[in-house]
Amino acid sequence: MDILVPPYRLARRVERLKPSTIREMLKVTQNPDVISFGGGLPAAELFPVADVSAAQDRVMRARGAAALQYSVTDGVPELRAWVANRLRRDGVAVHADDVIITNGSQQGLDLYARVFLDPGDVVALENPSYLGAIQAFDAFEPDYLAVASDAHGIVPEALETALGAADPKPKFLYLIPNYQNPTGNTLALERRAQVVAICARHGVPILEDDPYGEITFAREPWPPLLSHASQGAVTYLGTGSKMVAPGLRVAWMVVTDHALRERIVTAKQGADLHSSPYTQYVFHAYVEDGSRLDAHLDVVRATYRARRDAMTAALAAEMPAHVRWNVPDGGMFLWATVGAGIDTEVLFEHAVRDGVVFVPGRPFYPAKDRGDGMRLNFSAMPPERIAEGIARLGRAVRHLGG
Ligand SMILES: Cc1ncc(COP(=O)(O)O)c(C=O)c1O
Repeated sequence: MDILVPPYRLARRVERLKPSTIREMLKVTQNPDVISFGGGLPAAELFPVADVSAAQDRVMRARGAAALQYSVTDGVPELRAWVANRLRRDGVAVHADDVIITNGSQQGLDLYARVFLDPGDVVALENPSYLGAIQAFDAFEPDYLAVASDAHGIVPEALETALGAADPKPKFLYLIPNYQNPTGNTLALERRAQVVAICARHGVPILEDDPYGEITFAREPWPPLLSHASQGAVTYLGTGSKMVAPGLRVAWMVVTDHALRERIVTAKQGADLHSSPYTQYVFHAYVEDGSRLDAHLDVVRATYRARRDAMTAALAAEMPAHVRWNVPDGGMFLWATVGAGIDTEVLFEHAVRDGVVFVPGRPFYPAKDRGDGMRLNFSAMPPERIAEGIARLGRAVRHLGG
């Protein structure tokens, strides 16, 4: 008897689903001789392995089978309460009932898009913006309204003009206000209330994605956009990935409008029933001692700061004058523009041969219309490897650009 063989008749949306450049590149970086500024990896040697192991033992002793059973879709109450408390510490009026625990904030991006987007709807975002978000949104076949951004984040005047002219209006604005991926830029304090007010005036809700807000080098974290907004105007995504470890896949979504929250919870139910209660309890058992978490975050901040300094010092020493970069005061990335007419996708081919990789800038622009930028990750490597990698990159740039 014949069995069905490909070609399959796949959904139209898969045409838009391209493998992420970054994930593809991580394959190259399996080679230990290659120095990678490409991935967005936290420093693995800082992961609190012993403390998470102890947390896991406590969970098994105290909860046993309950941690291994099916659970509620919106997340275990203890962890939701911890999220609300932590945000309240930053001056945001949030309750445990507003919180949904997700499988990484990547799932928050997917769920939000799932409840908002039909094919042909418009999403407004910074230009450039996080590739993984564009990838998550792409499954729902939207168009993009890319709004000009500068060293201080999205430009309010450009946002006002873009939203005023947009027809149809975007379903939402997607923003990464702190140490943005890919640029490392932060939305200026004085722009925050302005951006919230502009969106409110145009009836456009904001999806605030904040994985890096706590990874600050020189100051206290700034209050999220959520703190400037009336109820329901901003949905906030936070994550344990950069604070603790991404392998736990523990993240949270704050949705103060409970009608919207119910829709998102229902969408999550269809996607995965619920996030793992086991990892939620382990994460909670690790973070509930605030002083332990704060001590860990201090080490992360100091280490990444030293690595940023190593990278900017190496760039100053190795790069010709047409290469420019910013000096972010937090997060894991900086952004360099190469100049001299060099396309960073071409540079990438040379750099791989010289044993160093980065992420070329083009995929971060929804229109894929700028090829002079590159994202450099500084968190994953010790300073001496950073110096060696930038020296290799400098040779590749000089080879192409003179
Ligand atoms: C801006 C941004 N949003 C979301 C994510 C996904 O993070 P998570 O590990 O919480 O899924 C990342 C990861 O790098 C990111 O940079």
